[in-house]
This record gives sequence, structure tokens and C-alpha cells, in this order.
Amino acid sequence: MARVLVAYGSKRGSTAEIAEWIGAALREEGHQADVLPAHAAVDARGYDAVILGGAVYMGSWHRDARRFARRHEKTLQSSSVWMFSSGPLDRSAEEKDIPPVRKAAKWMARLGAIGHMTFGGRLAADARGFPASAMARTMAGDFRNPEQVRAWAKSIAGQLG
Ligand SMILES: Cc1cc2nc3c(=O)[nH]c(=O)nc-3n(C[C@H](O)[C@H](O)[C@H](O)COP(=O)(O)O)c2cc1C
Repeated sequence: MARVLVAYGSKRGSTAEIAEWIGAALREEGHQADVLPAHAAVDARGYDAVILGGAVYMGSWHRDARRFARRHEKTLQSSSVWMFSSGPLDRSAEEKDIPPVRKAAKWMARLGAIGHMTFGGRLAADARGFPASAMARTMAGDFRNPEQVRAWAKSIAGQLG
């Protein structure tokens, strides 16, 4: 059994939910998983693996995920790290591999992350604030695929031994 930390940066909750799905899938495979917001004061030491995810806004990986990577850089460099992103408001993330945005790619390289996955995003029709509310008029929907998330988490579970 491995001890896994799933940390996420999320503004409107959909990336947080993806992180919960990942945690649940890891537990189903017999691992222990803590799922926490990346801004939480957490001791990243003592985990066998860390899965760090962030929503993508305006082409940028969520600030909380980037800050988490910076804050725990040394610890993460010596543990097994996977990353994920959530964003596309269409089916593209189910159809093809979408590479990490620049800042996520930078942290992947710096931390020696093993893998990365982009999942579809969600935007509620009644999203508040600009430009989210304007975008929601044409792009609202939930494009996350829980089965795709579970399958990815289970492939990690298998690699944890
Ligand atoms: C203002 C705004 C900008 C966005 N920019 C991007 C983007 O550049 N790339 C992308 O893939 N998704 C983008 N999205 C979609 C979000 O990443 C998607 O809604 C995601 O699920 C949000 O995650 P959260 O609910 O955890 O905050 C954007 C959404 C909004 C509202």
C-alpha cells in the first residue's frame, strides 16, 4: 500500500472534484490517498507519491498548483510525481493527448514528473464574473469524463506497486 497526496489548484471546483475521483480510485486499489487543496498547509514529506493538478485559465496552470510545486520543490524532486491539468471546454481531451501548458511543463521538468494528463473541464452556465460569464454563453458544459480520470488514476495505482 502506498501513501499518496493528491493536491489541486481549482477556482470553480471542477478540478477539485477530479482530484476527489483520483483519490477514490486510488483507495479502491488499496492505496491511502489524501486529497487536499494545493494552498493548504501540508507536509508533502512522508508520501510515496504526489499527484498535482491544476485548472488551466488563459493558458496558465492554476497559481495554487504552481506555488505548491515551488514550496515543496525539494521534497517533490525526491518523490514520484504525476501531474494533471483540467481545461478544454470540448471533447478534445478525450480524443487526443493534450500536452501541459508552458508553466506546467516547466514544473514537470524541474520535478522530474513521471507523467501528465489533461482532462476536459467544466464551466457552469451561470458562471459569474468576467470573462467567465461571457464564455459561458457559448461554452458552458461539463466535459470531464470520470471514467477517463479513474482509468488514469488506476494506471498510476498499478505503478505504485
Ligand atoms: C476565464 C476562463 C479562461 C479559461 N481559459 C482556459 C484555457 O486557456 N485553456 C483551457 O483548456 N481551459 C480554459 N478554461 C476552462 C477551465 O479550465 C475549465 O472551466 C476548468 O474546468 C476550470 O476548473 P475549476 O472549476 O477547477 O476552476 C477557461 C475558463 C475560464 C472561465
